[in-house]
Amino acid sequence: MNFKQKLQHKQQIINNRLMELIKINNVPETLMNSMKYSLEAGGKRIRPILTLTIAEALGGNTDDAMDFGCAIELIHTYSLIHDDLPAMDNDDYRRGKLTNHKVFGEAIAILAGDALLNFAFEFLLEKASNNLKEPYIKALSIISKASGSTGMIGGQVIDIESGNKKINLDELYNMHRLKTGAMIEASCIVGCVLAERYDKINIVKEYSQNIGIAFQIVDDILDCIGDKEKLGKSIGKDEKDNKSTFVTLLGLERAKELAKEHTEKAISLAEEIDSTGFLTDLTNYLLNREN
Ligand code: IPE
Ligand code: IPE
Ligand code: MG
Ligand code: MG
Ligand code: MG
Repeated sequence: MNFKQKLQHKQQIINNRLMELIKINNVPETLMNSMKYSLEAGGKRIRPILTLTIAEALGGNTDDAMDFGCAIELIHTYSLIHDDLPAMDNDDYRRGKLTNHKVFGEAIAILAGDALLNFAFEFLLEKASNNLKEPYIKALSIISKASGSTGMIGGQVIDIESGNKKINLDELYNMHRLKTGAMIEASCIVGCVLAERYDKINIVKEYSQNIGIAFQIVDDILDCIGDKEKLGKSIGKDEKDNKSTFVTLLGLERAKELAKEHTEKAISLAEEIDSTGFLTDLTNYLLNREN
């Protein structure tokens, strides 16, 4: 299989597991439809792919990595539903479809986000309570912190507050490190922790911090020069909303250079994590992606 085929295969098995997980009994029908709507809309599944790839490369158990990676994807999907709300970025399209609140209304969209977040922890805690392993507890702690007020949510607050005001490059880095980097870092570190390869933690951390920043810089670039159809979401919104991004602050060319620099740093570390070359290819793909 070439890289693209391997990537699609991983996306497929992740999608299958997500669809299996979301079969929850006794959920009000509208809520279930709304949760499934955003989850089934697609998405690149980058976070679970990272968890899976790193855990497997370091000798970890595939089923465990799959479950923790899928829980991270549930949390990520919730963050997108809330990110698109009128009170936040007010977006109409996501993953090639109308945004959740456009279809189900704001109240149900908020609750579907809440439910996806909560379910991620319900599911992982049930798994951990059935089999009390230390790496499970460590991974749970990493995920809860990364998604919280000193991680992704904190970053989203900085993002909201940085609209219509000039922030400096350090503040921009910090915002990206939190709003996007924190969950990407957690996805990678959880893979390492589940494999109990603590000797690799520092390398995995540095790798993930570099791809986390590069990932959001590319997101900023795509908002500026991406193709709406390929991207599956609106373009030109960041500039219109006076958002602080790498493109609005430094210009397109410097943003591209920085994404490349962080990717090159990450690639030099990827080889020490995954000797199969998949992580290296994935890192390159994240830089050159069109969606
Ligand atoms: C979009 O994330 C929001 C950011 C954190 C930049 P992705 O680009 O991973 O979105 P999906 O999951 O593929 O839709
Ligand atoms: C979103 O950043 C980050 C999170 C959802 C945590 P953006 O607001 O730039 O993401 P898009 O462009 O809407 O996907
Ligand atoms: Mg946003
Ligand atoms: Mg947004
Ligand atoms: Mg964006």
